[in-house]
Amino acid sequence: MVTLGLIGCGVISDSYLTGAARSALVKMKSVADLRPEAAQAQAEKYGVQAVSIDALLADSEIDIVINLTVPMAHAEVDLRILAAGKHVYSEKPLAASFADGKAVLAEAAKRGLRVGCAPDTFLGAGHQACRAAIDSGRIGRVVNGIATVMSHGMEHWHPNPDFFFQPGGGPILDLGVYYVTNLVQLLGPVASVTALAGKGSETRTITSEPRNGEVIPVNVNTTVNGLLSFASGAQIVLSTSWDVWKHNRLPFELYGSEGSMLVPDPNFFGGSPRISERAGDWQDLSLDGHPFSAANRTLRDGREVADYRIIGLLDMACAIAANRPHRCSGELSLHVLEVLEAFDKSAAEGRHIAITTPCVQPAAVPLGQDEAVFK
Ligand SMILES: NC(=O)c1ccc[n+]([C@@H]2O[C@H](COP(=O)([O-])OP(=O)(O)OC[C@H]3O[C@@H](n4cnc5c(N)ncnc54)[C@H](O)[C@@H]3O)[C@@H](O)[C@H]2O)c1
Repeated sequence: MVTLGLIGCGVISDSYLTGAARSALVKMKSVADLRPEAAQAQAEKYGVQAVSIDALLADSEIDIVINLTVPMAHAEVDLRILAAGKHVYSEKPLAASFADGKAVLAEAAKRGLRVGCAPDTFLGAGHQACRAAIDSGRIGRVVNGIATVMSHGMEHWHPNPDFFFQPGGGPILDLGVYYVTNLVQLLGPVASVTALAGKGSETRTITSEPRNGEVIPVNVNTTVNGLLSFASGAQIVLSTSWDVWKHNRLPFELYGSEGSMLVPDPNFFGGSPRISERAGDWQDLSLDGHPFSAANRTLRDGREVADYRIIGLLDMACAIAANRPHRCSGELSLHVLEVLEAFDKSAAEGRHIAITTPCVQPAAVPLGQDEAVFK
């Protein structure tokens, strides 16, 4: 049994604490936060102990620490976790900048420790069914594609939405990360990025509680449109925006030499992927046998979805024991972070940006029973 600690007891910590409680592979021991009252509340809710950050890092029983702080703090907290001799699993993005992400990986390499990073949604059944179909050639060679993630932002639901509009946030880093990570698992590494970027407004007015009416600054681009060129030769258009009230576009379509594919929303684990053989009718891709498919969470809008956040960490825990690579790896998240940062860089400099980091496509998840597939 692998013992976990968690730093950052905000909104997303419920998913991880629920996921850890469901798992037979890990045991959550302690939680900590800059705000001790936040750690105390989650400790009481989930039957774990609340401790200071220093005490958590000094606990020799804890093997892996989950970092669920805001993006601007990811690198600093990761470096503290590594300095304490513990493996780290971070929420996305790996860091607020590519340079900070590189520093985290260099420190981990120096210490012989693992870095894992969300998103792990691509390990879910909806996306692994797409991966299996592409790997077996059902749509041929992927030539082209379009991915879209657009809404009017986060200030209407998150209690503290500031970080979404600060470096490390914005729709490209906050949500584009799911799309680019999934594209890399489906198609392999990205070679270059070309993009335009801008802002719909200089401020946002919070409409969620408890800060309803407060005006916050926008220090990131909130509309970012780009073109990803993959080493495989595929060209994918990615549109991300928090300046859109309503639209009618699908999350994700891939076009191959032998057919097309509708990929489910990569923010979730399940979904209903479909393919066509050449110009034939759409057919559902079966999720049978793929782990992590059953709906287990009801969203604010009433939709039932599969939410298995934490399985990237479970894979990493098993990978450490088996001395094999883990799928949600530091290398993958650093490659994706370089790609995401390249959108703003390309827009600012008016040129194609070549991607420099190597990246190995993560191994497909085998068919089988949920977390047992990682053993
Ligand atoms: N909210 C979501 O639906 C969601 C979904 C997926 C991923 N994420 C990611 O998870 C991370 C956290 O998001 P959230 O929505 O839970 O944010 P949040 O603001 O609700 O919580 C962040 C917590 O981290 C604490 N914190 C900040 N800096 C810290 C530091 N240096 N040391 C210790 N604690 C610190 C804060 O006090 C706060 O309790 C972000 O990287 C975000 O991108 C969030």
